[in-house]
Order: sequence, then structure tokens, then C-alpha cells
Amino acid sequence: MNTIIRKIEQKENLELHQFAHEVKNPLVVCSGYLEMIPNSTFKQKEKYYKIIEKEVKRSLSIISSFSEKKRSNLNIEELDLRLLLEEINEIFKDLFKKNNCKINIIGKEEIYMHGDYEKLKQVFINLIKNAYEARDNNFLQILIKIKETKKQIKISVIDNGIGMTRKEKIKATDKYYTTKKYGNGLGIPYSKEIIELHHGILNLKSKKGIGTKIMIKLPK
Ligand SMILES: Nc1ncnc2c1ncn2[C@@H]1O[C@H](COP(=O)(O)OP(=O)(O)OP(=O)(O)O)[C@@H](O)[C@H]1O
Ligand SMILES: [Mg+2]
Repeated sequence: MNTIIRKIEQKENLELHQFAHEVKNPLVVCSGYLEMIPNSTFKQKEKYYKIIEKEVKRSLSIISSFSEKKRSNLNIEELDLRLLLEEINEIFKDLFKKNNCKINIIGKEEIYMHGDYEKLKQVFINLIKNAYEARDNNFLQILIKIKETKKQIKISVIDNGIGMTRKEKIKATDKYYTTKKYGNGLGIPYSKEIIELHHGILNLKSKKGIGTKIMIKLPK
């Protein structure tokens, strides 16, 4: 009985951690743009306020989907993956430019599939955030490649950051594994979970000092 109660408590604890982790991401974006606003032009300000407004709405929707206990339920709809990635690029673009970093997206203009738009967005934000946090002193290039076959969509997120050793790479998918001072070690495990809920797979390749490649395969 005690073991069952402990397991339920552990699960609830993990859900709470994941929830805090996902709400934190949009707030980090907002705080980045709020810092940039005092030194920006009127046009930039307008753009940044719009991003902040959207990101605040996104954190509110994460909160409501959590409180409605919809965490492991997917809200499946037809979506354009390219559009989703462009939307994320738009969120990060100016923030990254200021910090010597750029995202490039390569692939077809429109890629339709069935999936949960908000949850997939969280996956790619987690992966992009990881790449950004892995930057060294050089220019960080994040390349997102999308390929489409009859049955599958393959997406790779490639960065030229610090990379991982073989040992670190194996541990990266473990819950709570982090090498960062303020990391929770939840970005990759949570992303993997969402991809698997979509009946897809998430794999990692990495080389210390060279960079990291995250490969995702999703059924259409
Ligand atoms: N693109 C990357 N380049 C280098 N190391 C990475 C990369 N992505 C992940 N890692 C390594 O894997 C670890 C786990 O990543 P994960 O996203 O799960 O947690 P985190 O980034 O540490 O914390 P958070 O919960 O805030 O995302 C990181 O701490 C880092 O050591
Ligand atoms: Mg992370």
C-alpha cells in the first residue's frame, strides 16, 4: 500500500515539475523581450509587445490544460508543421540575434500532419532552448531540417554548440538529469514523452565540441 502511495506521490511530483518547467519557458521569453524594450525602436517595441502578449496567453493555456488534467490527452488537429516552426522562429528571432545566434529552417513550405499543436510547439521550444543554452563563444547556428515521406515526417534540430560526451548523451533522456546550474532535467524527457504520445520517436546524436542533432520521426 505504502509503495503504491509513494508511486502516486512521485508521479504527482513529476507532473508538478513538468508543469512548472513548461510555464517557465514562455516567461523566460517575456522577460528577455521586456529587457530589450527600453532600448528598442517604436516598431520593435510594437513587435515585442505582441510576442509578450502571445507568450502570456500560451502560459495561461498551459496552466488551464494542466488544471483540467488534460496533460496526457492530445488535442489532435490538422496542422502545418512548417508554420509551427516559423512561429517559434518569430518568437526567438530578435532575442537570438542579440546573442549571436540564428535559426534556419530547411524543408518544404507547407507540411501537413495530425498532431497536438501546442504540445509539439513545447517540444521544439525545449529543443531550441537546449541548443541555445549549449552555445559557446562562437556564432550558434540552429538548423531545423524537415523531410517528408509518404508515411512519415522527419525533423532534425542541429546545433554547433558544446555537444555531449557519449555518457552525457545516454543520460540526457533521463528525468532530472541536468548539467546546468538552474536546469530541471525535464526538457528532453518531456519532449520524448510528447513525441511518443504521437506514436513517433526521438533520438539524439552528439559529439563533444562539435554539436548535437536531435532526430524526430512522426507518423503523418
Ligand atoms: N543541444 C544540446 N547540446 C548540448 N547538451 C545538451 C543539449 N540538449 C541537452 N543537453 C544536455 O542534456 C541535459 C538534459 O537536457 P534537458 O533539456 O532534459 O534538461 P535541462 O536543459 O538541463 O533543464 P530544463 O529542464 O530546464 O530543460 C542538459 O542539462 C545538457 O547537459
Ligand atoms: Mg532543457
